[in-house]
Amino acid sequence: MQTVNTIAAVRERIQSETRQGKRIGFVPTMGNLHEGHAHLVREARKYCDFVVASVFVNPTQFGAGEDFDSYPRTLEADQARLQEAGCDLLFAPNVAEMYPNQNNDWVKVLVSDITTRHCGASRPGHFDGVGLVVSKLFNIVRPHVALFGKKDFQQLAVIRRMVEALCFDIEIIGVDTVREASGLAMSSRNGYLTPQERTQAVLLYQTLCKARDAILDGNTDFNGITEQANSALRDGGFIPDYFTVCRADNLQPAMPVDRSLVILAAARLGKARLIDNIDFVCR
Ligand code: PAF
Repeated sequence: MQTVNTIAAVRERIQSETRQGKRIGFVPTMGNLHEGHAHLVREARKYCDFVVASVFVNPTQFGAGEDFDSYPRTLEADQARLQEAGCDLLFAPNVAEMYPNQNNDWVKVLVSDITTRHCGASRPGHFDGVGLVVSKLFNIVRPHVALFGKKDFQQLAVIRRMVEALCFDIEIIGVDTVREASGLAMSSRNGYLTPQERTQAVLLYQTLCKARDAILDGNTDFNGITEQANSALRDGGFIPDYFTVCRADNLQPAMPVDRSLVILAAARLGKARLIDNIDFVCR
């Protein structure tokens, strides 16, 4: 696996692969990689001949007081993990390469509506930063296909909308969340948990499963389900941010007639803000 740090170098290598008729797959990341990212790279191989990953801790998607400065930078370990997963090229730019002359102020990529609820409400501007950096990365890498984890369900929905609205000729693939044996969704932010909190953290997924099972059993009192879930999370030591039953296509609050649903949840546990979700179809 080759690692390059400049836009010119990544373009040169990808152009040479494309000229040979190769189909390019792309896995954007912020590094501090875990098995979930390795899974994305292995999945990418199914859709393309040449897999590109990026590692870039994107400042524009962090709000004031968030963990941009402390976000773990683990490039050597990330390179080893990507190489082992079968990645062909790693693009690892620095902030000046991605945002020269502070040019992040020149253009905004605002995906309306879907970005203002759930994580967008708790982290104002977060998805604007994601939209901006992912647009830039797409224009740099120009992949045929890009893969994103479904753990960040709202991010995936935002990117799908952005790709459609801005006519990016890129197929977006959502990949199922990789979980630890306990059910805890793999996340870079699990590293903020103490061993005791890691054991407690599994309650988030258990609560999602319980809510899903209630709905599949015919309970359509979504407000009641949400209240019970928030109370279970609080009892388990979490500070819930949101727990909400939504339509899977547009992330609007679900109605009893809706069939394709997702339950989205975010909650703080100690220093970590954990997010998770579960999507399913009611018959
Ligand atoms: O999901 C992430 O790691 C980031 O939000 C992404 C998509 C790499 C953009 O910085």
